[in-house]
Amino acid sequence: MSAQAKTNKLTDKVAIITGGGSGIGAATSRLFAKEGAKVVVTDIDEAAAEGVAKGLEQDGGQALAAKVDVTCKEEIDNTVRDVLARWGKIDILVNCAGTGDIGWFIESDETTWDRIIAVNLKGTMLFTHAVLPSMVEHKYGKIINIASIAGKTGAGMQVPYSASKAGVSGFTKALAREVARHRINVNDICPGPIDTPMYGQIGDLDPELQKKYVRGVAQRRMGRPEELAAAVLFLASDECEFITGHSLVVDGGSTMI
Ligand SMILES: NC(=O)c1ccc[n+]([C@@H]2O[C@H](COP(=O)([O-])OP(=O)(O)OC[C@H]3O[C@@H](n4cnc5c(N)ncnc54)[C@H](O)[C@@H]3O)[C@@H](O)[C@H]2O)c1
Repeated sequence: MSAQAKTNKLTDKVAIITGGGSGIGAATSRLFAKEGAKVVVTDIDEAAAEGVAKGLEQDGGQALAAKVDVTCKEEIDNTVRDVLARWGKIDILVNCAGTGDIGWFIESDETTWDRIIAVNLKGTMLFTHAVLPSMVEHKYGKIINIASIAGKTGAGMQVPYSASKAGVSGFTKALAREVARHRINVNDICPGPIDTPMYGQIGDLDPELQKKYVRGVAQRRMGRPEELAAAVLFLASDECEFITGHSLVVDGGSTMI
């Protein structure tokens, strides 16, 4: 029997990934490039974005790096303009940049709430708003927002983060209804504990809380960023054409929802 040639799932697609310099965003950038996409790795950490993009090019992929703070409309608009000038379209947007905090809500302050809502929720809306006109024009788009199981079940000591991620899931569903007529799919992914620098920070701040989260996973382990990237790829591919407004939980059986 002859071996079947593998077909890349994202050939010629142009994908922008926010928070692409680390963790889930970096793993997604690598998988997308392997599947034939032209990948725009964006991050507030310019060196991290450049490092990931360089790695993709060294492996034979096509990539661009851009320093983008997702709370800054000007940086977002400039990047979208540059990508359209270079590659003519944007097929896929992965809103992955995120931030959080650990602490009792009663002791939290407005500065913390504003930072978390600005990055996780408003950043997702700003970037999506910037790419939508091009997606509508091309009658094609896949938007994948990285939310969290914290937004589904609530995570103690992470109240603003949980609220911001519930907001992301609400945004996903509402927008999916509006843009379905333009052949644009909008879905989100709700990860459980994933072994990334962000999750490591929880352990630095509160090792007991981190252990508690892992004990709550049926598989008794953290997920790997590559396992999340595989789910993002599915939602970015044409295999999910009839899936929109969905929250895909990827949590090793933490929530069973
Ligand atoms: N790791 C987990 O357990 C877990 C669980 C649920 C959800 N998530 C979500 O997954 C996403 C990716 O997180 P991760 O775990 O890979 O963390 P990570 O820390 O490895 O990566 C997050 C990236 O976002 C970037 N970033 C932060 N603020 C930004 C801003 N204002 N503009 C642009 N980029 C910014 C960081 O520089 C970093 O590169 C986040 O939205 C996070 O909330 C993670």
